[in-house]
Amino acid sequence: MSGELSPIDKAKFVAAKRSVDYVEDGMRVGLGTGSTAAWMVRCLGELVRDDGLKIKGVPTSTRTAELAREVGIEVISLDEAKWLDLTIDGADEFDANLNLIKGGGGALLQEKIVATASDQMVVIADVGKEVETLGAFPLPIEVIPFGWETTKSLVEEMLISMDVLGRDATLRMNGDRPFVTDEGNYILDLHLGRIGKANQLAMVLNQMPGVVENGLFIDICDVVIVGYGDGRVETR
Ligand code: 5RP
Repeated sequence: MSGELSPIDKAKFVAAKRSVDYVEDGMRVGLGTGSTAAWMVRCLGELVRDDGLKIKGVPTSTRTAELAREVGIEVISLDEAKWLDLTIDGADEFDANLNLIKGGGGALLQEKIVATASDQMVVIADVGKEVETLGAFPLPIEVIPFGWETTKSLVEEMLISMDVLGRDATLRMNGDRPFVTDEGNYILDLHLGRIGKANQLAMVLNQMPGVVENGLFIDICDVVIVGYGDGRVETR
């Protein structure tokens, strides 16, 4: 399945392949979004097809739902599942405390709901995602389209009042139009450089009218499986 891969894709693939060891027969599994999560969905599909693994998958985006169905995984909604045994997802950054930035693929809202409704969250990532302090990757926040420019200004003012280093928020685009999430919202990417007090920032952002959710995943992830370009895998 992996064929000839570039080092970064190999790193993503080996992390994804290792993560399916956490999946047991009969589990309800949250299926993340992104290129690393897509490898994991393909690996699970292989187990379903070849080994008769029986699982129900709850996808975190329409993209993942399509792929899961394509590879033969039974897809159900979160409300049908009610609670999940495990979620496996990628990340844009993770630190030593297993706190994350997610949302590079624009699916952070469903990803956070699904991960929070799971007994365990396993993150799969290439080693390039490991950071000392979160924030080099722009922090995505999902905002409702109504009044988004006003929301953006309020977020920038709040960042100034919190003494956060970087204060620029940019609207994520898809060509010449705003990128629209599965929930019909927009994404603002906050270019912060360094996030000192991630917990506090996450709470303040979510209290702002117009902000639906932010991409900081604090105390949600239980394990990070790190893949390397030479095929090594480590668990944090
Ligand atoms: C999508 C995400 C992804 O998990 C994150 O962007 C990592 O993606 P990739 O595995 O393609 O590097 O949060 O919203």
